[in-house]
Amino acid sequence: MQETLLFDQFTWLVFAAPFLGLLVAGLSKRQDPVIRGKRVLRHDAPARVSHWTHAVGTALLLVSGIILGTRFSPSFVTGDDAAATWFNVHFVFALLFLFGTFYWLGNTIISRWRFREHMPTKNAITYTLNHYGSLLGVKKCTYPKEAKYFESERMAFILAIIATVAVLVSGLLKVLAHALLLPEGFMNVVTWTHDISAALMLLFFLAHVFFGAVLPVSWKTLKSMFTGYVPLEHARHEHSAWIEELEGKGAVEATAAEKDETGGQSVPLAAGRKEGIEHV
Ligand code: HEM
Ligand code: HEM
Repeated sequence: MQETLLFDQFTWLVFAAPFLGLLVAGLSKRQDPVIRGKRVLRHDAPARVSHWTHAVGTALLLVSGIILGTRFSPSFVTGDDAAATWFNVHFVFALLFLFGTFYWLGNTIISRWRFREHMPTKNAITYTLNHYGSLLGVKKCTYPKEAKYFESERMAFILAIIATVAVLVSGLLKVLAHALLLPEGFMNVVTWTHDISAALMLLFFLAHVFFGAVLPVSWKTLKSMFTGYVPLEHARHEHSAWIEELEGKGAVEATAAEKDETGGQSVPLAAGRKEGIEHV
């Protein structure tokens, strides 16, 4: 029996997933980073949900895409049914990827300052050389005062954005070609774009997983991508400029035990402490 192509049958879902992502972003309550006792809130729930939906979507899109084959790599499927199965896997994870990406986009439109935190600064090269030089024991390198995201992470972010936008736009055009007749030459460019951006995505993915999950030095931030929190001492060492910034603007909350000691009164742990650091 010929397997049904979900890209043909449920084309509309591909265009609905981005709207769902934006809607959920509009309904989500964000929480800004804050020092709570010996921990720092680094990734609030919306950041974690958008990251993992996008990440799992990307991982399975890469797997199904590589199996299907590109203009410059062989296909590992034989027969129409096997190809249809992998296109259907591609469809399901494209929905997750689109939801996660647009959830992140919606979150970023709502709090634009978060986007700036990801962009490299003029210190990108010197900080990165000093960061990894000092980890490798190079004497003349000193560990720099990194902000919330390392300068090296910020440079990699540019690659993630380019790959995401290119794979997404070309993917949507490929889906559109299942419903409309688009010129052959145009679709050729679209397929090349989809395949080259898939290769860029693979490059980013491998580097990001290596630096973000494989290297033991990253395990505390990996844990925070699940729990939300990193230990304060770790953050003070790795991201000293970020912790100084949080303390400077008073993003410090007393723990329940500290409140008990002062008879339920808030403790002014840092100058200029603000109440109600949550924002929508
Ligand atoms: C990390 C993200 C993605 C990767 C690595 C990826 C990779 C691939 C690869 C390698 C192929 C097979 C070669 C080709 O036809 O170009 C493919 C096909 C396809 N992809 Fe993706 N893709 C991704 C995201 C998406 C997204 C987000 C969509 C939908 C919005 C999408 C829709 C499609 C479609 C419709 C096809 C072709 C189906 C057909 O020819 O009938 N892809 N993708
Ligand atoms: C299974 C694969 C993945 C793993 C294990 C992973 C791991 C991580 C970890 C541990 C962090 C926290 C880093 C930090 O706080 O400094 C992070 C953040 C991030 N990752 Fe991933 N990641 C994966 C896939 C992806 C993909 C595919 C993308 C984009 C194409 C991506 C983009 C990002 C971004 C933009 C951040 C910063 C998020 C924020 O705090 O707003 N990740 N990732």
